[in-house]
Amino acid sequence: MSKNSSYWQMDEIRIVAGAMVILGFATGLLVLAPYLLLKDVEPPKGLKPYTAEQLLGRGQYIANGCIYCHSQQPRDASLAPDAKRGWGRAPVAGDYVYDSPHLMGTMRTGPDLFNIGARQPSKDWQLGHLYQPRAYTPGSIMPSYPYLFEVKKASEVKEGDEVINLPPAFAKKDEVVVAKPEALQLVNYLLSLDHTYPVKTLE
Ligand code: HEC
Repeated sequence: MSKNSSYWQMDEIRIVAGAMVILGFATGLLVLAPYLLLKDVEPPKGLKPYTAEQLLGRGQYIANGCIYCHSQQPRDASLAPDAKRGWGRAPVAGDYVYDSPHLMGTMRTGPDLFNIGARQPSKDWQLGHLYQPRAYTPGSIMPSYPYLFEVKKASEVKEGDEVINLPPAFAKKDEVVVAKPEALQLVNYLLSLDHTYPVKTLE
């Protein structure tokens, strides 16, 4: 009996020790190694930190699930023709220093947005497209975000209201569409997505 119980104890020690080794290995590989590799990454010279308004817009991007259809990580030319699509160069770690959490995304139902601020810098276009994507891209499957806007009678427009210019076919008679602060913040964030500055790569 006593022989048997010490035998089991030995087995338990082995299981616990084995688990520790595996956990230690995984922590080293997934936590420690990336930390050592990335702890000294500097922001590239051309990259500006987000403003308070842009950070609020980033929150809107997260809250509205834009990441489910849009990535922010163009692939290298050797892997895919993303640069030819106008999405920009492949990113380096420094491009993401101000991003927490990062919004690289994995799905590409829509185009990559890493450089949307450079590719489509028109605030009017961005606001109108969020209100009604099909007014700008016929047949677009992107959802519209009408709750980021307010439809008002033309006579109710106040000073400071950001009235959006919809293409004539989508403009409403006697009514105007005014962007809410959430829409303005989101577009401010989209326009800040410009990583076209040069970076050092390993090549
Ligand atoms: C269901 C998938 C889906 C979701 C969710 C989605 N989009 Fe899109 N988006 C698309 C598709 C598809 C296109 C391409 C057609 C078009 O221009 O409308 C697109 C196009 C765009 C473009 C223009 C890109 C270019 O290169 O011209 C921008 C900007 C954009 N989306 C921003 C957003 C933002 C911001 C959100 C969240 C509020 C969002 N999208 C949510 C699918 C989506």
